[in-house]
Formats: sequence, structure tokens, C-alpha cells
Amino acid sequence: MQTLSPELLVQDVAIDFGDRSYRIAIGTSLLNNPDTYADLPRATCAVIVTNTTVGPLYRDALATALSAHYPQIHTVVLPDGEAHKTWQTLNLIFDALLENTCDRHTVLFALGGGVVGDMTGFAAASYMRGVPFVQVPTTLLAQVDSSVGGKTAINHPLGKNMIGAFYQPALVVCDIATLASLPARELSAGLAEVIKYGPINDLAFLDWIEGNLDALRSGDRVALAYAVKRSCEIKAWVVSQDERESGLRAILNFGHTFGHAIESGMGYGTWLHGEAVGCGMVMAARLSERLGLIEPSFVQRLTQLIANAGLPTVGPQLGAARYLDLMRIDKKSEGGQIKFVVIDQPGSASVRKAPDALVAEVIEQSCQPDTAV
Ligand code: NAD
Ligand code: GLY
Repeated sequence: MQTLSPELLVQDVAIDFGDRSYRIAIGTSLLNNPDTYADLPRATCAVIVTNTTVGPLYRDALATALSAHYPQIHTVVLPDGEAHKTWQTLNLIFDALLENTCDRHTVLFALGGGVVGDMTGFAAASYMRGVPFVQVPTTLLAQVDSSVGGKTAINHPLGKNMIGAFYQPALVVCDIATLASLPARELSAGLAEVIKYGPINDLAFLDWIEGNLDALRSGDRVALAYAVKRSCEIKAWVVSQDERESGLRAILNFGHTFGHAIESGMGYGTWLHGEAVGCGMVMAARLSERLGLIEPSFVQRLTQLIANAGLPTVGPQLGAARYLDLMRIDKKSEGGQIKFVVIDQPGSASVRKAPDALVAEVIEQSCQPDTAV
């Protein structure tokens, strides 16, 4: 394992969107420090959006820090879980904003994982046609991926993240200390999105993850801070070139076309998003191999790492036809033709079409229990 310096615990990553640029602050003792929020827009009201699990853990610390800057602090507590990433739950945020006569300068703070972050961002994008918001991600998945880059959304029963907007936060606060209360299953789910950056962009990072997996899984703060920093650097580099996913940004969806089909096919929340993405990456890597792009040894290497991260590598048996139907409802689809993020060569990815019959073979192979590593 590479020696990691404790200085890695305090890092900033910048994300360049011109006059909408912002800072991703990474470290410990950030969430509860008033200085973290000193440069944010001033307003009468700050509204913390959180859920029934995260609220009791971190809401008071955040509210105390924010009280140095905002005279009024309101809190909206949402039900917890992917199954609640809906219009009904989104409306709870709008209800609270209107009941408290929050004006157009109000700043929203998303305190929680990707579900809270995606919904708060969408509420911020649309309340009074747009108010500022801050991401305070408390899961590994949200710190390495969902809080950065401005995708906001809710689910529709027919498709994942189908209703949403691109809307950038004013600041992202990744307090590594919050990961200490995260259940092991959720930490593994976050590792799926960390691993993703290796095969699509950075083989040296893939090597590093393999060498530091035990430290990451045991909650080593320095290792986690480095994983968050490197993931955010890669994501910031990609999304600052292609904010609205007209090209390059799609590579960040490696494993997600299969993964989203698993999530909606099983019912939202049955498999965690990161679990579905982990298994989806195995399927996407196999498809890349079948298309003649990468060697079986790289598929095996990636599958082994995903398994070692505590993630599933065998898909649920929904049937290939059902997978294909579910995958046609994907934002990358055009005219019913599904597009997949594939690995062109280790460390580089692109988006391609593939024949249904070949995809069906990959799905059948990937859902057989004897394919487990
Ligand atoms: P999540 O938000 O459901 O959080 C996972 C669980 O951990 C929840 O039960 C939550 O209450 C709990 N939790 C959160 N922080 C905790 C903490 N510090 N201690 C204890 N428990 C804690 O799930 P997630 O994995 O963070 O995010 C998944 C969501 O993110 C999905 O809806 C996915 O579509 C979305 N996503 C969005 C993007 C994007 O670019 N916007 C990217 C990736 C994923
Ligand atoms: N999580 C994929 C993206 O932000 O584009």
C-alpha cells in the first residue's frame, strides 16, 4: 500500500464553470465550522434539507455553523430511501419553503446522500425559478460523484432519474468524518463509483484503489480523503468540459445503463444504486470484451476488484428481454436504440450501440450464479 500523508485530509478541488465555478472542500471538521460557509451568498433564510437518518446525526452541527451567517434556519426532514425520490417527497421541500415564506435569496443545504442531494438540487433549480444551494454530502457515493457536477433529479416509476435539471451548487462540503457513521454496505456502494473512474479514465488510480481497498473499507480517513479528492478531480475535469452531457460526460455512466435497469426492475431501493452500478460495470466490461475492445484478463481484474469491494457481480435474473425493455428507457437511448458506455482500452471509454442479441448474451452470462468470482 502506498504511504499516505495525513496532509491529504485537507484538500480543495476547483470546478470551472466560468461565473458558476465552485469549490469542493474535502477534509474533516468542515461541516460544523462556520468558516466553511463564509463565502456563500447572504440571505435571511437557510433551509437544511435532510432525512430521518442523517438529520439526527448532523443537522444540529450544521445549523449551529450556519447560524453565524443566516438569521433564520429552517429544516425539512424527508423520509429516507431511494423509494422516496419522488414528486410527493419533492413537494415536501416546496411546502416548507412556501410555508416559511422563503424568498428568492434563500440558500438550500442538502445534508445527506445522493437521494437528498438530487432532490434538494432539483428543488433549488425550480423554486422561484432558481435559488442557490450547497451540497453537504454524507455518503461516500455522494462525496465522490452525485454532489459534484449539477445533475439533479427524481425517479419516475418507469425510469430512474427521468425528471430533473442541470443546476450547479454554490459549494460542495465533503466532510470525511461523516463517513464514520455510514453502514459498511453503503460504504461499499460508494466504492462502486470510486472504482468507476479507473477503467474509464485513470489506470494509476485503479492500481491505487486495489492497493488501498482494505484501508478504504475499514474507514481509514486519509485513504478516503484521497479517494474523494481523486474522484472529484476526474469528475470536475470531465463535467467542466461537457456540463450537459452532449458527449464526454456520458463516460461517467459506465455500468449505469445495466445498473439503472437492475434498480428499476427490482424496485427502487432493493439493490442500492452503487450495488447496481458495480454489477452493471461487470456487464459493461463483458460487453466491451465481446465487442473485441478489451482482453478477458481486464474484465476478470475489474470483476475481482468489484467483488473485493463487497459488491455483487452476478445480476438478478430478470430475463434478458426485461433488461432490454428497461434499458430502452435511458437518457442515452435514441429512437429506442440503447447506447452503452464501453471500455475502448483500459483507462479510456466511449459510447456505442450494440446488437440486442449480443447484449442479451452478456446479460444471460452475467446473471448465472456460476459466473461469481
Ligand atoms: P442515499 O442517499 O440513499 O444514502 C444511503 C443511505 O445512507 C441512506 O439510508 C441515508 O440516509 C444513509 N446515510 C447517509 N449518510 C449517512 C451517514 N453519514 N451515516 C449514516 N447513514 C447515512 O444513497 P447514495 O448512495 O448516497 O446516493 C444514491 C443516489 O444518488 C441515487 O438516487 C442515484 O441515482 C444518485 N446519484 C446521482 C448522481 C448525480 O450525478 N446527481 C450520481 C450518482 C448517483
Ligand atoms: N454520475 C454521472 C454524471 O454525473 O454525469
